[in-house]
Amino acid sequence: MGKVVAGVAIVCAAAACAAAAVTVSYRMRVRSQRHHARSFLLEFQEACATPVARLRQVVDAMAVEMHAGLVSEGGSRLKMLPSYVDQLPEGDEKGLYYAVDLGGTNFRALRVQLGGKESRVIKQEYEEVAIPPELMIGTSEELFDFIAKELTSFVAREGDDFQPSAGQSRDIGFTFSFPVQQTALNSGTLLNWTKGFKVVDAIGQDVVAALQRCIQKRGPEMRITALVNDAVGALAGGRYWNEDVMIAVILGTGTNAAYVERAQAISKCGSTFPKSGEMVINMEWGNFWSSHLPRTPVDETLDNETMNPGEQGFEKMISGMYLGDVVRRVLLKMAQEAALFGPNVPRKMLEAFSLGTPDISKIHADESSDLKVVGNVLRDVYGIQNTSLAVRKIVYEVCDTVAERGARLAAAGIVGILKKIGRDGTHSKDVGSPVHPESGKTVVAMDGGLYERYSKFRAYMQAAAAELLGDASKDVVIELSKDGSGIGAALLAASIAKNRRK
Ligand code: BGC
Repeated sequence: MGKVVAGVAIVCAAAACAAAAVTVSYRMRVRSQRHHARSFLLEFQEACATPVARLRQVVDAMAVEMHAGLVSEGGSRLKMLPSYVDQLPEGDEKGLYYAVDLGGTNFRALRVQLGGKESRVIKQEYEEVAIPPELMIGTSEELFDFIAKELTSFVAREGDDFQPSAGQSRDIGFTFSFPVQQTALNSGTLLNWTKGFKVVDAIGQDVVAALQRCIQKRGPEMRITALVNDAVGALAGGRYWNEDVMIAVILGTGTNAAYVERAQAISKCGSTFPKSGEMVINMEWGNFWSSHLPRTPVDETLDNETMNPGEQGFEKMISGMYLGDVVRRVLLKMAQEAALFGPNVPRKMLEAFSLGTPDISKIHADESSDLKVVGNVLRDVYGIQNTSLAVRKIVYEVCDTVAERGARLAAAGIVGILKKIGRDGTHSKDVGSPVHPESGKTVVAMDGGLYERYSKFRAYMQAAAAELLGDASKDVVIELSKDGSGIGAALLAASIAKNRRK
């Protein structure tokens, strides 16, 4: 009997030892995997670093590329497209104007009744619809007919409180947020698509003629009088309210900037200068490239797997369409190589764009001590249950790294433009375009969902701009101009009509 008891005790002890060994080895494996994930994170953070010295190189490169793009067609990856807008709205525009806005996942139609200097925007209304994904890769006819159809039904619902002035037609400003080589204020050919659009037969077409044809077929008596990139629209929208606005930046699904340039500096346009002596330039800065950009292998794989590899390198590091996917790719690598989320890689994490920028914004805003929101997002998006705090911290830091890099690069881009126009504090007062005599300020109008809704991104961007500008930052105001790009095209259509009447 004694022997039996002793035998059982030995077996139990051995089992306990084995269980302990399994636990210890499991813990060691988890610890070593976590260590692996941490060192991967550190490596990624180093590759993404944007110390101020590096940002200054980006600032200089932006200013140099701007010059090059203005001198000759194809002189830089920055297209620096003349917009033919040589006069921005002044606030005294009157009448009823429409705008249609195509540029991201949604299409918008908008009408605005303008009352002149005193009453400004008397009333505005808009309607937004999601663009059916198949139209983003279909034919030009289908896409423009869809816009014409939505516009026609919106116009049909115009109420009595919207009134065109006597003898005035219903003019439309067309915001088209893709690279277009304009040939006039109201015509231009599409150079290439971005942001996941690929309507191949539209490339090289005059997009105004294409839309105007579809509108005519559907009946309403309307004409497109202004073709406007959203960055140009944001500049017009900002200037309508504030005459110190010189630059507009879009940080949304895509990214871009427009600014007021001295016509003489645009040497590729020859020597016919507009009366105002100025012209708005659509930079198409999403395609900016410099060897100083902190690009990582993750960015390279992302780029290779997009619809436009080799294009829009800056956009793919800073805009809303891509930030979430950069994070996803880093997390996927950590899941595959360091089992960050356990032995299995969450299937959905293999899907491109399954993590959106709104998700990383939510993660990044989590201030709770146990990073509860981070856990919730991982559960809701990828079905990952019961993450440890250590894992949630790693996920948080990946978001922080990607957003901080994007925001600081965007700030360097803005300071590059300020440098080009002599407003970064490093020039004597008589270089560049004149500063408004009373305020002495330069205002940068910001538009786009990324800037508007991602508060940590916004804060990082503002801080980096202040860091780069030093003392000069007191004369530079970077402010949200909500929906400037939407209404901007209508305001430009109004300003064109006003100048026609003069
Ligand atoms: C387009 C620009 C546009 C920007 C913001 C970019 O992808 O190339 O034309 O202004 O997105 O919408």
